[in-house]
Amino acid sequence: YSLKDYNTFGIEAYAKEFVAVQSVNELKQVLQENKGKKLFILGGGSNMLLTKDIDALVLHINIKGISVISESDTHVNIQAMAGENWHEFVLHCINNNYGGLENLSLIPGNVGTTPIQNIGAYGTEIKDTFVSCNALNIETLETDTFTKDDCEFAYRESIFKGKLKGKYIITSVTFKLTKTDHKINTAYGDITEKLIDNGIIVATIKDVSNAVIAIRQSKLPDPKELGNSGSFFKNPIVPKTIFDKIQSKHPLMPYYVVSETEVKVPAGWLIEQSGFKGKRFGDAGVHSKQALVLVNYGNATGQEILNLSHKIQETVFNNFGIHIENEVNII
Ligand code: EPU
Repeated sequence: YSLKDYNTFGIEAYAKEFVAVQSVNELKQVLQENKGKKLFILGGGSNMLLTKDIDALVLHINIKGISVISESDTHVNIQAMAGENWHEFVLHCINNNYGGLENLSLIPGNVGTTPIQNIGAYGTEIKDTFVSCNALNIETLETDTFTKDDCEFAYRESIFKGKLKGKYIITSVTFKLTKTDHKINTAYGDITEKLIDNGIIVATIKDVSNAVIAIRQSKLPDPKELGNSGSFFKNPIVPKTIFDKIQSKHPLMPYYVVSETEVKVPAGWLIEQSGFKGKRFGDAGVHSKQALVLVNYGNATGQEILNLSHKIQETVFNNFGIHIENEVNII
């Protein structure tokens, strides 16, 4: 069973078996019938690099539905099932004037995978509006609810990437969004630039969403046109002492202060400085507008993309003494 259409990198790889499930009951049934079998859970396929065929039962979570669970005059708790496309869900919220997710517009993938790495962009992460998620325990087939604290969210991290890896399938996620007094977040430089007028920013959640969409379209490739998985690497967080040494040699290096002792450095800048931006090796390449994104020009294998990523990591380490970690899951 070809997985080419199920991963945004557009890599050709085959699954031994493939089942798409449309409901939680169907999911339970499939798990029951295939007890003991090796499983591979597939959501939107937007954050993985397939480097080989999958010798397992691939379970595609295609469970749909969006519903308001509770609301007050000022807030709404809205639940989306795991198989809902993330961006369509964000637009649904904006069209209903529910605020809080607009900065996360146009991120590829499905709702069910968003908590796994606490997706974030333009000054917002899902942990900022996340209430809870329901997840099916693969062993017991019981549904457990995880609150925000349970999820142990951090930058591109959660408990589902850590100690609960492979143990649960997230079936739905609930967010608390605003109905009035939206907290418009335009602090990210690129958004300010787009929305500022005469020194002031007056913006609706729709304006913020449109600005984010325009920014993303200007530097991030559309997976439908050019295979990719967004940021291939995480932005490294380095101790301030090491950062100071690097900065004295590279005074133009952009950075964000994380705490008194730690500084985050954009990996895209490190990669660009290392000469990789826009470079192409066969069908594997580094995007010309954002060096953090590796791309598949058509028929790259996962192994070719992986080799390129190793070359980049090595060069960045030799140039800056910083190890950049994968953001994408390597399969
Ligand atoms: N930069 C360069 N060269 C490049 C790319 C970036 O010099 O080729 C510099 C930029 O000039 C800027 C800084 O790096 O000074 C930051 O760049 P940008 O605003 O594009 O964001 P990023 O740090 O590269 C992160 C996220 C993105 C997210 C944006 C916006 C990670 C790993 N990536 O990228 O997330 O959209 O911020 O918030 O944290 C994703 O995870 O798939 C993703 C796209």
